[in-house]
Amino acid sequence: MSFLRPGGAHPGWPEPVGPIKVAAGVVRLRPVRMRDAAQWSRLRVADREFLEPWEPTAELEWNARHGISAWPSVCSAVRAEARRGRMLPYVIEVDGRFGGQLTVGNVTHGALRSAWIGYWVHSELTGGGVATGALALGLDHCFGVLRLHRMEATVRPENTASRKVLAKVGFREEGLLKRYLDVDGAWRDHLLVGLTVEEVRGSVVARLVHAGRARWV
Ligand code: ACO
Repeated sequence: MSFLRPGGAHPGWPEPVGPIKVAAGVVRLRPVRMRDAAQWSRLRVADREFLEPWEPTAELEWNARHGISAWPSVCSAVRAEARRGRMLPYVIEVDGRFGGQLTVGNVTHGALRSAWIGYWVHSELTGGGVATGALALGLDHCFGVLRLHRMEATVRPENTASRKVLAKVGFREEGLLKRYLDVDGAWRDHLLVGLTVEEVRGSVVARLVHAGRARWV
């Protein structure tokens, strides 16, 4: 069964998601676009030391991979995947400005109805609930409009901040994937975390609001 609409879009794409208010500001998800090149490049180059320990190893050196001229091919590749219904590549906006990215990938329908989710936030915006808010928006969107049943993520055990974010939105640890991914130049163990719609019982954002970690806008 195909979930693609005649225009090539899939449910929930390409509309923005949110906003909600967290301590750092108003958080919203919106599709990546070609004119993000300068912002994306500036933040990724500035945050190299902050991001590289957690990101998959690539052949090209970091600065070459994150130059302004690298963005058009990255952006058009993920947007093409989005049009095919396999991905949701978002920018996390904080008070209307580029603050990071949240990506939903390997979107699978049929009897599996699952996807993975990942994110990064600019170092100057961390500690203010941005990742938690963005993740909650993304999860509600996937369980709601996309009608997915299971979301999963992988995280290095050493990534304390990200493990905290995943726990705050309700992800459960399911096991340790030994030497799972080549990250920062070596095969690294990763924790697999999962969440199914039955565990959400309503809305992830509503739970954050109830816990005093976010406000409706
Ligand atoms: N030890 C313990 N707790 C920490 C630490 C630390 N070293 N650093 C941060 N925290 C806590 C914060 O206090 C906060 O918890 P609290 O709300 O209970 O106080 C929590 O971790 C962070 O929550 P947020 O503020 O919602 O997250 P933030 O916007 O700061 O973004 C993120 C967190 C995304 C991990 C950011 O630090 C980042 O981009 N890191 C680099 C890239 C990365 O690791 N991406 C995630 C990869 S794994 C994945 O995508 C599934």
